Amino acid sequence: MIQIEDIRRGKMPTHVALIMDGNGRWAKQRGLPRTEGHREGASRVRDIIDACLDLNIPLVSFFAFSTENWQRPQEEVNILMDLLSQSLDKYTDEAIEKEIKLIVLGDVQKLPAHVKNRLAKVQERTKNFERLTVVLALNYSGRWDILEGARQLAKHAKQNPDFDPNTITEDIFRQFMPGGKLPDPDLLIRTSGELRISNFYLWQLAYTELYFTPVLWPDFDKNEFLRAIVDWQQRERRFGKISEQISRND
Ligand code: FPP
Repeated sequence: MIQIEDIRRGKMPTHVALIMDGNGRWAKQRGLPRTEGHREGASRVRDIIDACLDLNIPLVSFFAFSTENWQRPQEEVNILMDLLSQSLDKYTDEAIEKEIKLIVLGDVQKLPAHVKNRLAKVQERTKNFERLTVVLALNYSGRWDILEGARQLAKHAKQNPDFDPNTITEDIFRQFMPGGKLPDPDLLIRTSGELRISNFYLWQLAYTELYFTPVLWPDFDKNEFLRAIVDWQQRERRFGKISEQISRND
């Protein structure tokens, strides 16, 4: 068992991002409907949030529903949306008590009204908290994020005829991206053995350490999360430079 005190002594990531995969396979292995895998998976979201609080990690992102996930059977999409609504009802008071801010990232207009309304309420009620920020990526894709940035920048240029395109730097461009205001993830975790980014944070993952584990999401408990953090703590981050001493934030 990994000791949390040992981890606390080391450097800590500022932003951990998670691709939660393997709910369906977890359920199938047990002869259960896929939706039971999602239900169990939702409990792990809470466990990982708890672990972040324990470790003083200030920002965690969950890829909860991608733009591609609409292609799943309608019944599964409905159950995922219901689960999200239920989780928001169940955990909002606890989030407020623990000073957790919820941010939703993605094209939320397309979500069902019952989800949109709850998300708006929770975001409003938690907007001033700073202890831990939880980003829920919903109807999100990395390409959407970049495209949305391009659209907003084009609008800005149209409204400001003197705008000089040569002044666009990475920092300026990212300010127009919906997800660009968040610091880049230091660590991306993907469960269930798939070795893909699947259109998550494409811009933001440029220098992120990647951690892939065969563990299915419903089995990815606090100890598995601590294992990923220990692995990250042992890596040297160079950002393309030659020595750790001159790296950006280690
Ligand atoms: C991937 O498993 C998981 C998802 C598509 C959704 C993740 C959603 C949750 C963990 C529950 C709801 C979220 C919140 C925040 C309450 P999969 O179905 O692709 O698994 P498979 O690859 O084994 O089929």
